Amino acid sequence: MKSSPTSDGDRPFRLVVLASGTGTNLQAIIDRVHGRDGIELVGVASNKPEAPALERARGAGVPVGVFPRGAYPDRETRDGALGDWIEELGADLIALAGYMELLTPPMVERFRDRTINVHPALLPAFPGLDPVSQALAHGVKVTGVTVHFVDEGVDSGPIILQRSIEVDPDDDWDSLERRIHAAEHELLPTAIRMIAGGRVSIDPSNPRLVRTD
Ligand code: GRF
Repeated sequence: MKSSPTSDGDRPFRLVVLASGTGTNLQAIIDRVHGRDGIELVGVASNKPEAPALERARGAGVPVGVFPRGAYPDRETRDGALGDWIEELGADLIALAGYMELLTPPMVERFRDRTINVHPALLPAFPGLDPVSQALAHGVKVTGVTVHFVDEGVDSGPIILQRSIEVDPDDDWDSLERRIHAAEHELLPTAIRMIAGGRVSIDPSNPRLVRTD
């Protein structure tokens, strides 16, 4: 059984977060994960120089990196520079927390089984943009949150953890999104702690199946 990297007593488990927006999931990681259980947030990078997430990182004394698309000839080159930065930090795990760009295939391959994403729906339902609107438009009774490994597709990688959230007939985008966001702030830190603790592995006989202890 293939296991994800784990914290080993002496050396902290090094986490890098990629974020493009407000960064409330990053804040949950800063508040609930960083500096605990042998886990250190060693860097936060963004494709958006003005992302409020970067301010949250600076406020926590965490090094930041900015890799805007326009500063590089193409996405592969940008992801190469981002990947080098992440490797220099010695990252064991990359968490995408509202990172609004697809990673290029070489970047996915470079950090395969070491990159996770949080998505505000019960995948495989409603991948891609604005899953909260998708769920409301579809009229589902239950939606939720998924944390999954990142592969070359859109929100298509092996699922690590999910939490369901009931949709009330009177919910609008704001009310549903608020409950989803609150669930994300618990589920993503939980997944990071489980991976750091060696409690997550991919079943070699079924690479879609993630086992959690
Ligand atoms: C989250 O809902 C995340 O799942 C999605 O983008 C949102 C980012 O929120 N991919 P925040 O920036 O962490 O507040």
